[in-house]
Amino acid sequence: MNFNHMMPLKLLVVFFIILNPCGCSSSSSANFPIAKPSCLDHCGNVSIPFPFGIGENCYYRDQNSNFAVECNTSKLKFQDSPFEITEISLEGQFRTMNYVGYNCYAHNRSIKSNSPWTSLGMPFIFNSTSNKFTVIGCDSIAIVQGASNLREYTTGCVSLCNFKEDVEDGSCSGIGCCQTSIPSGAWQINVSLSSVFNHSSVLSFNPCSYAFVVEEDAFHFYADNLTNLESVETLPVLVDWVISYKNCNEAITNKSSYACGLNSECYVEEGALGYRCRCNEGYEGNPYLGCQDIDECRNPDRCGKYSACTNTVGSYKCNCIKGYHEDGDGRCVANNKKDNWPVFIGVGLSGGTLCVLILSFCFFSKRQRQKEKKLREELFRKNGGKFLQEKLDAAKRGGTNNIRIYKEEELEKATNDFDESQIIGRGGFGTVYRGELTDHKVVAIKKSKGVDEDQVEQFINEVMLLSQINSRYVVKLLGCCLETEVPLLVYEYIDNGTLFDHLHKKFKSSLSWDIRLQIASEIAGVLSYLHSVASPPIIHRDIKSSNVLLDQDYIAKVSDFGISRLISSDDDQVATMVQGTLGYLDPEYMLTGLLTEKSDVYSFGIVLMEIITGKKVLSSGKPEAEKFLSNVFLASLEENHLAEILDNNISSPENIDQLHEVAMIAKRCISVRGEERPCMKDVERDLLILRAKAKVISLQVFEKDSTKSETLLDMHSIGYGSSDYFTSSGQYSAPYTTTEQPLLTLPSGR
Ligand SMILES: *[C@@H]1O[C@H](CO)[C@@H](O)[C@H](O)[C@H]1NC(C)=O
Ligand SMILES: *[C@@H]1O[C@H](CO)[C@@H](O)[C@H](O)[C@H]1NC(C)=O
Ligand SMILES: *[C@@H]1O[C@H](CO)[C@@H](O)[C@H](O)[C@H]1NC(C)=O
Ligand SMILES: *[C@@H]1O[C@H](CO)[C@@H](O)[C@H](O)[C@H]1NC(C)=O
Ligand SMILES: *[C@@H]1O[C@H](CO)[C@@H](O)[C@H](O)[C@H]1NC(C)=O
Ligand SMILES: *[C@@H]1O[C@H](CO)[C@@H](O)[C@H](O)[C@H]1NC(C)=O
Ligand SMILES: *[C@@H]1O[C@H](CO)[C@@H](O)[C@H](O)[C@H]1NC(C)=O
Ligand SMILES: *[C@@H]1O[C@H](CO)[C@@H](O)[C@H](O)[C@H]1NC(C)=O
Repeated sequence: MNFNHMMPLKLLVVFFIILNPCGCSSSSSANFPIAKPSCLDHCGNVSIPFPFGIGENCYYRDQNSNFAVECNTSKLKFQDSPFEITEISLEGQFRTMNYVGYNCYAHNRSIKSNSPWTSLGMPFIFNSTSNKFTVIGCDSIAIVQGASNLREYTTGCVSLCNFKEDVEDGSCSGIGCCQTSIPSGAWQINVSLSSVFNHSSVLSFNPCSYAFVVEEDAFHFYADNLTNLESVETLPVLVDWVISYKNCNEAITNKSSYACGLNSECYVEEGALGYRCRCNEGYEGNPYLGCQDIDECRNPDRCGKYSACTNTVGSYKCNCIKGYHEDGDGRCVANNKKDNWPVFIGVGLSGGTLCVLILSFCFFSKRQRQKEKKLREELFRKNGGKFLQEKLDAAKRGGTNNIRIYKEEELEKATNDFDESQIIGRGGFGTVYRGELTDHKVVAIKKSKGVDEDQVEQFINEVMLLSQINSRYVVKLLGCCLETEVPLLVYEYIDNGTLFDHLHKKFKSSLSWDIRLQIASEIAGVLSYLHSVASPPIIHRDIKSSNVLLDQDYIAKVSDFGISRLISSDDDQVATMVQGTLGYLDPEYMLTGLLTEKSDVYSFGIVLMEIITGKKVLSSGKPEAEKFLSNVFLASLEENHLAEILDNNISSPENIDQLHEVAMIAKRCISVRGEERPCMKDVERDLLILRAKAKVISLQVFEKDSTKSETLLDMHSIGYGSSDYFTSSGQYSAPYTTTEQPLLTLPSGR
């Protein structure tokens, strides 16, 4: 804004004109105060507009946001945070310096590394379009995990190369540099780095791997960066801010915390989680302090040559000067007669109506949860049919779930009247039939054994849970039938058997190591999602190889949520009747009856053992010590005889290290004490890294065999994403309901 020009003298005829008294010299500095009176508005050369501020009464804060910053040696930071803020805009963004992750090798050992993490508290979000997760190195696997508004996410990038000459400046396609997006809504970024070959063959020109989230425009990749990043500690990222996680209606309700000052209005940008303020049209200034009228007449050309400008509050008027009149098109033309009509060319004033339209956006969380709890209680008392119907209606209204209500005769016809020959599974829960609907769609139909209340309850439980989960790796519920005495559930038909079948029965040895590792990481992903993304968290309670179905592409689909439990936020331990499958059942849970997520971790550990040994979990008719796979497994680990119990079909010199690593993960998962077991998101990350390594190694083997070096280079980018772990109902998970979230937190290991 440059108001430096003086108006041409010939236009200064009209006495109303108010000249801009400010001879502002800097074009960037505004001519209105940006901070509160007697508050510091600069730190170094970074300006600090309110709501940001230093010291008591200088910044904005409410129950879920805090804009307190501090200035130390000319560096602007959030309180108790190492991250320097380099720029703040009133349009809702700031730029901060984020840590670079590294993993350096010398000879054949890692000498130093870190795993930095950044957690932006409310109401700050990493901008997903301007920032990129970037990995630099010639033997580098990096995983970025974190929390976003809707879920936790895991994604990553692999970057490889054989020769420095192959690396191109400006290209981040996986050869020396790899870039990928971060999901929208991310407020936490955890970076972990790994390598496949310890940089052994690239040490001379690339001893280190680097990984960081960076503003795309602020980082340009050059081949030199393979060696010259050692001294770079931080790089800029762009962060979006809102004033508070409230919509405008909610915000305006509480006058004492409403942040928009005089002559400003509240608005919520599409996709944003909270509101911001902006000056009403015709006003300027810091909307959080109050906006002042813009003197439009400072622009000498505002009204045209024969018209005089008059500033009004929020707008301005143009009046033809003496001797001229308005010609009907807004122009002033010379008078023939004496008339001299003032003409108003007003600029439309837009009131504060816009924001009202954009609202009614999904703020479920607490109320929703309480509602569900109440409904659930009702379910336990009455029979479930009515509840189920309600649930389905709600899902339908929300447009989130396409759960269909099937007619009884439709399903009878599909299964040939529930003929024995159509049975594809049987269990404690009931029977599963294969069915073909009239549109030739093949489905699996689950029918409860009896009408006993427990079983009906399990069915309803399953519907309720599955209607909240939307993951590619969970068997999809298509619909149900309520007309029968017992409800029937209709699922997508997964036609390639269960993991159990493949490991122990029909299709023995058909699963390669790559596929087994993939299946393991998919199951880990589902559990990680159930435990830490689903809201409230879900404990599956019956993880076992026969509950993992495989499709034609060997994609794992976790099934059977019949005895799964929702864990409400106020009790993370639930006392239940011990249920599960012998051999997979967490001994701690068996003893105490207290259920936690770690019980699933235990069962998953057992599945991992099954995957690498190809042995059954429970071998009846053997001596007590050899009956349980877990005992045999732990004994062989202890005696360093792991190789002996590994599945011969998959163990080979190339992957023995990986098998060993998986064995160690399995061992941690079955630690006797639940608290010593890792959480599923760490397991997921470790398995993803292993998978990336396995992929690279198998490519290399292939390359050796075919003596064709191009192959490897073409396939360097391996992207992983679990962004399909997404509840389409738009529920927010925990981060927004806690107030203790630190604004920014220190990275570890630095
Ligand atoms: C002020 O900002 C400029 C860039 O805008 C930068 O180069 C300079 O180092 C900054 N000065 C201080 C003291 O931070
Ligand atoms: C209104 O805002 C103030 C200041 O943030 C807060 O202390 C108070 O609890 C809020 N009142 C309500 C009803 O939310
Ligand atoms: C300023 O920063 C230095 C290190 O950068 C730190 O040691 C010092 O305690 C800080 N001072 C204040 C007042 O926070
Ligand atoms: C690691 O380095 C040592 C010497 O520093 C060497 O003897 C050994 O063979 C190397 N191992 C590998 C796997 O390269
Ligand atoms: C991210 O930054 C760009 C550029 O400043 C901006 O246009 C966009 O609205 C931002 N995204 C969000 C979600 O705010
Ligand atoms: C990120 O790291 C922090 C600190 O180690 C941890 O508390 C948090 O759970 C991690 N988040 C994810 C998604 O791994
Ligand atoms: C990498 O180093 C680790 C220990 O530092 C070692 O166990 C592993 O075998 C090495 N891998 C390769 C491919 O050199
Ligand atoms: C990357 O390398 C180029 C060329 O040497 C250098 O100018 C640039 O500063 C490097 N990037 C960073 C972030 O250090």
